[in-house]
Amino acid sequence: MSFSVEYINDELYMEKVAVRDITDSVGTPCYIYSYSSIENNFNSYSDSLSELNPLICYSTKANSNIAVLKIYSKLGAGFDIVSGGELKRVLLAGGDTSKVVFSGVGKTEAEIEEAIKAEILFFNIESIDELHAINRVAISLNKIAPIAIRVNPDIDPKTHPYISTGFKKSKFGIEIGNSINVYREASNMQGINIIAIDAHIGSQIFELSSFNDSLQKLTHMADTLIKENINIQYIDIGGGLGITYRKDETPPSMEEYAGIIKNHLMNKPYRPVIEPGRSLIGNAGIMVTKVLYTKEGSEKNFIIIDAAMNDLIRPAFYNSHHEIIPVMQNEKATNTVDIVGPICESGDFLATDREFPPVANGEYLAVLSAGAYGFVMSSNYNTRPRAAEVLVHGDSINIIKEREYFEDLIRGEKIPDFLSE
Ligand SMILES: Cc1ncc(COP(=O)(O)O)c(C=O)c1O
Repeated sequence: MSFSVEYINDELYMEKVAVRDITDSVGTPCYIYSYSSIENNFNSYSDSLSELNPLICYSTKANSNIAVLKIYSKLGAGFDIVSGGELKRVLLAGGDTSKVVFSGVGKTEAEIEEAIKAEILFFNIESIDELHAINRVAISLNKIAPIAIRVNPDIDPKTHPYISTGFKKSKFGIEIGNSINVYREASNMQGINIIAIDAHIGSQIFELSSFNDSLQKLTHMADTLIKENINIQYIDIGGGLGITYRKDETPPSMEEYAGIIKNHLMNKPYRPVIEPGRSLIGNAGIMVTKVLYTKEGSEKNFIIIDAAMNDLIRPAFYNSHHEIIPVMQNEKATNTVDIVGPICESGDFLATDREFPPVANGEYLAVLSAGAYGFVMSSNYNTRPRAAEVLVHGDSINIIKEREYFEDLIRGEKIPDFLSE
């Protein structure tokens, strides 16, 4: 298991810190990330692919706390961004913009301008309209924008439909069959410099054959473009490698994944760019929550906790499984329970029909594999302030995002004059 926590004398620890020490000082719910786990995951990517000199562009959307981005920046990562806001975060974290790639189907002209001015590595273009917009903005700034076309290779990544992105019917990228014409058009544009080809087929992928098929199509396309004197220097294969959510789940190893990339790119003139998110930080984080109440019904038993779907939406949104364990390990006997939050929605659960040991009110539970797409997808639904975020490094506890307060939530709200009379 690759979770970033372990029991020592029946008490849950992350690195050298007892989780209970964090709940005592920070309260719950809170997200906790392990520095060493983040670092190890990154090094495992860069070591396994070192022969290819890869550019690892951490997918900022997975967890965009600026302290987290700072870690990746210090480790030498680049960044995959999908908004002007993410670019600002990367800048705040001291990230190297010459290692930034910008994906997303709806980049605005203002965002394009900011990215051109920041001299990012390249834009991943997702439509002909966007290509024209980038060309237009670049010319107006008297600059040349480096680009890749994000092709849609029509590959089934065999994952949840909401995180499958490489099908023909998906909104992402340009159909690979049409992309050659778009490349030709782009090659004649004054404000555009073509340097790469890109695809991202989905997330939480366990089937390496999907990456293999995608790489096959990308390298074939790149070779074709080179023959047309279109100077492809990078092949960006996106992110998507799966992680362990269920304790009995084994994702492909880094060596197997790297082996596929090497098969296609060794001795080729293209530098690989990868955009991992989940596989870099997913298992490096947990969310900790407190048991408020327990309730027994004739058909269901419930554990009601102080975290809800607004804090971690993945179970409600994708029906995802997260392992949940007590912070103090207790009895081995279990009951079947639903672990639910306080929000007024039946979809507000973190686990259903789960075998779980008896717990008392006030006990703490840890929700595992919550480092990616956890806090970043949280909301204020039901006027619930968002959780605090903590980074553990050795024996140090570092608050990297303060818990929100009610005042933060209503900032900007106003009662119009006609209602105040
Ligand atoms: C364009 C792009 N690149 C990279 C990623 C990261 O994917 P993952 O977190 O599965 O590695 C995503 C996530 O959806 C994405 O949309």
